[in-house]
Amino acid sequence: MQLEPPRGMRDFYPADLDLRDRIFAAWTDASTLHGFQRFEPPVVESFELLARKAGEEVAQQIYHFEDKSNRQLALRPEVTPSLVRMISARAQDIVFPAKWWTIGQCFRYERMTRGRKREHFQWNLDVVGEPSVQAEAWILATVTSALGALGLGARDVRIHINNRQVVAYLLGELGVPRESHVDVFMVLDKKGKAPVETLKEMLVEKGLAAKTADEVMDLLGGEAADSLSSGPLAASPAAEEVRRLLDLADAMGFADYLRFDSGVVRGLAYYTGTVFEGFDAERKFRAIFGGGRYDNLFGDMTGTGRPAVGMGFGDVVIAEILTELKGLTPAKPKVEVCVGMFDAALGRDAARIAAELVAAGIQTDLAFSAGKPGKFFGYADRRGARFTVFLAPTELRDGAAAVKEMASGVQTTVALAELAGWLRARLRG
Ligand code: HAM
Repeated sequence: MQLEPPRGMRDFYPADLDLRDRIFAAWTDASTLHGFQRFEPPVVESFELLARKAGEEVAQQIYHFEDKSNRQLALRPEVTPSLVRMISARAQDIVFPAKWWTIGQCFRYERMTRGRKREHFQWNLDVVGEPSVQAEAWILATVTSALGALGLGARDVRIHINNRQVVAYLLGELGVPRESHVDVFMVLDKKGKAPVETLKEMLVEKGLAAKTADEVMDLLGGEAADSLSSGPLAASPAAEEVRRLLDLADAMGFADYLRFDSGVVRGLAYYTGTVFEGFDAERKFRAIFGGGRYDNLFGDMTGTGRPAVGMGFGDVVIAEILTELKGLTPAKPKVEVCVGMFDAALGRDAARIAAELVAAGIQTDLAFSAGKPGKFFGYADRRGARFTVFLAPTELRDGAAAVKEMASGVQTTVALAELAGWLRARLRG
């Protein structure tokens, strides 16, 4: 039997879930703290909803299948199309601008590299129905609040922001026709993943003259973040949007995280304005999260346009950063009390006492098999028990049990009638 999960899929063992839960808790708290409402679409959607025309990588990575009634279905690679579907289906009942959040598992048949799996959990924040950059600022405030809760400050994470209209303005100046802009964005997004020469060839394949391809890569293919106040980008009307976002970030106290970076365009075709991506400060890891404004997606998918902006933040890279950079170690799963017994004849009493502790709201584990104290304490220690209750015939005859606090080793004989109260006072007191 194959003991590994399918390539790219992950098993979460108990200790792995401890770290994942901490990440989910930071996402959940930040979302609710900022007034987002939770929604949850299904993992399986119709293939048609998720399929795309533009040359996006994600379109080739869809896990696509046919059900027994010949429906063309797919495991979602992202949540955004489902959000569009759900909002549009009940638009009359929704208060706009809608602020929605979810954590959902997404599947992509990716080439396996560090930070990229074929399945990941993605936190999504979206604001639908708000055209102003206030929405971007609110989303980024929420993201940075989650980062802060995970112990990651502006020194650890940088959010690179750009606006596709700034890039489009520059492409216009270079004579690249509007119809080709999305193609050019898709190529620019591959910067750093493929040699510049290959990217230039791709631009030529998309219909750009060789000279224009050179100019595009020279102006936008660089690593350095350009200035918004001078140079060719500053003249773009959309540069003002970026400045307003930076100013709002300043007012809200997270400007330290942000960097203008004309090189960030993102790999999804639907973005129309602001785009952003979060990275660790040393750029050792893949993108931690990414998002942007997609004002045309609702109109394109449903015929009713709605301005929208959102972001997706996966659990894979953040877990790598927290363990490798912040030294977070998976915590041993803990239990408050472990009940054990000296001989098997006490099995009924042990089960009853354990049930009473559970009924009193105490997290309890029962060691099913009887044994010597040493063996039992070894087990309780591996289970991370804070207290043990060990039943032996002599104490039990007197209506009592030996209770040990594992950290201090202090042992006390406690009357069974008082056991739950005694433990609760020490565990919760
Ligand atoms: P995306 O950039 O494709 O955007 O994914 C967002 C985040 O999901 C990435 O930054 C990364 O954290 C995580 N992620 C994506 N693919 C993988 C993978 N194969 N393995 C591990 N993590 C991964 C979107 O999906 C957009 N729908 C986000 C969005 C929401 N835009 C607007 N609203």
